[in-house]
Amino acid sequence: MQLRQIFDAKSCTYTYIIANRVGGEALIIDPVFEKLDHFVRVLRELDVKLALAIDTHLHADHVTGLGKLSKLYNCATVMGERAAVEAVSLKVKEGETLKVDNLRVEVIYTPGHTEDSCSFRLNDCVFTGDTLLIRGTGRTDFQAGCPYQQYDSIFNKLLKLPGHTLVYPGHDYKGDTVSTIAEEQAFNPRLQVSCSTDYANIMNNLNLATPKMMDIVISQNRKMGVDYEAR
Ligand SMILES: [Fe+2]
Repeated sequence: MQLRQIFDAKSCTYTYIIANRVGGEALIIDPVFEKLDHFVRVLRELDVKLALAIDTHLHADHVTGLGKLSKLYNCATVMGERAAVEAVSLKVKEGETLKVDNLRVEVIYTPGHTEDSCSFRLNDCVFTGDTLLIRGTGRTDFQAGCPYQQYDSIFNKLLKLPGHTLVYPGHDYKGDTVSTIAEEQAFNPRLQVSCSTDYANIMNNLNLATPKMMDIVISQNRKMGVDYEAR
């Protein structure tokens, strides 16, 4: 399996391109609008055709490349069934499987960061969006986020995956790239809690600033960024 992790330094977002074989089909997870040229180059160099573009959730900190990619490649666009995005071509729910070439991607509904957040499992990898980060977790203070839901998503779904499962997050702010479920269980400071109330107390006291341009970004992402012009 070919896996490429591409970092957007402005929003500290990771985009993933995954393909099974040269000349086959590929999928992309959480494409950042500003990095589209980079994705086009990687797809060309890997000699793969983009079949599926997935957003793990409605992003508040960067404009999605889903709309532009679907125009360029005529690929399907995928989000969770709770995503408030009309234009998306396929909405998925817990337990569904997406097929790209002979890759199988399992949908895990992991709300809490936002109500539409999903994680996507592929072989021994799980793409956790902003639900589970490396030594952190995604904020739960807007877009119908909920720390209790996030606790349930992490403790009762993601941490139930085999410990060796590789965790590929939607963001990293410290330079980490990949982790494992076992590592996060042992060393993620936010997961060293004994109950959901303790977790909610941590999350409700983070006092984080609102992302810049959040309202504009969200309104663009409701249309998959299709008519967005980068400045
Ligand atoms: Fe997010």
